[in-house]
Amino acid sequence: MDAESLSSELNTELVFDRIADALSETGYAVLPAALPATMGDALLARAASFDHSVFRAAGVGRADKFQLNALVRNDEICWLTPDNEVEAAYLAWMEALRMGLNRRLFMGLFDYEGHFARYAPGAFYKKHVDAFKGRTNRVLSTVFYLNPNWEVADGGHLLMYDHRDNAIATISPLMGTLVVFLSDRFPHEVSQASRLRYSIAGWFRVNASLGSHIDPPQ
Ligand code: OGA
Ligand code: MN
Repeated sequence: MDAESLSSELNTELVFDRIADALSETGYAVLPAALPATMGDALLARAASFDHSVFRAAGVGRADKFQLNALVRNDEICWLTPDNEVEAAYLAWMEALRMGLNRRLFMGLFDYEGHFARYAPGAFYKKHVDAFKGRTNRVLSTVFYLNPNWEVADGGHLLMYDHRDNAIATISPLMGTLVVFLSDRFPHEVSQASRLRYSIAGWFRVNASLGSHIDPPQ
């Protein structure tokens, strides 16, 4: 292994340590410059290259309960697949994080699903939780931001709340910032953005397949 890849591997382990420590202390982690800058740039180029029709209006709920509800959210999404090498590199990083957290915290994380999200100027996502206690297999949420030079006045903040609805964090969707949080613990919302805003939202899941019922992804 050359010196550069050795140092980036050590750095990744330190990032995983910090995420694991923050998760066990507070249940959430916010890390600027969490992934290699080249990966952030490539992911932004990928998201920005999609023709309008690739993104679909995001819905609320999964599979048979899925419904569009523009009063709750009006971003557009596009699921990640390993078919594209840039998306594959991000999924590989998340796979390493999955194993890193299982090793450190014994979380039993089983797989990961994620999508690009595009918030056009004026878009928002009202306060929600990603998982209701005991009702889903999504246990850990991630959001990675792809917006260089984001200013406070651009809005589009991730606002996080505790279980009593006290505001606990306001996070700017700045390129390179990664947020990781326990899915059933933190209501959160995306305030209205006045500028085009890209992020990648994703979830680590535990295996909730029972007998012949195969738990559907997405
Ligand atoms: C989500 C979500 C937050 C963000 O997609 O569930 O909460 O900041 N996204 O993009
Ligand atoms: Mn969410």
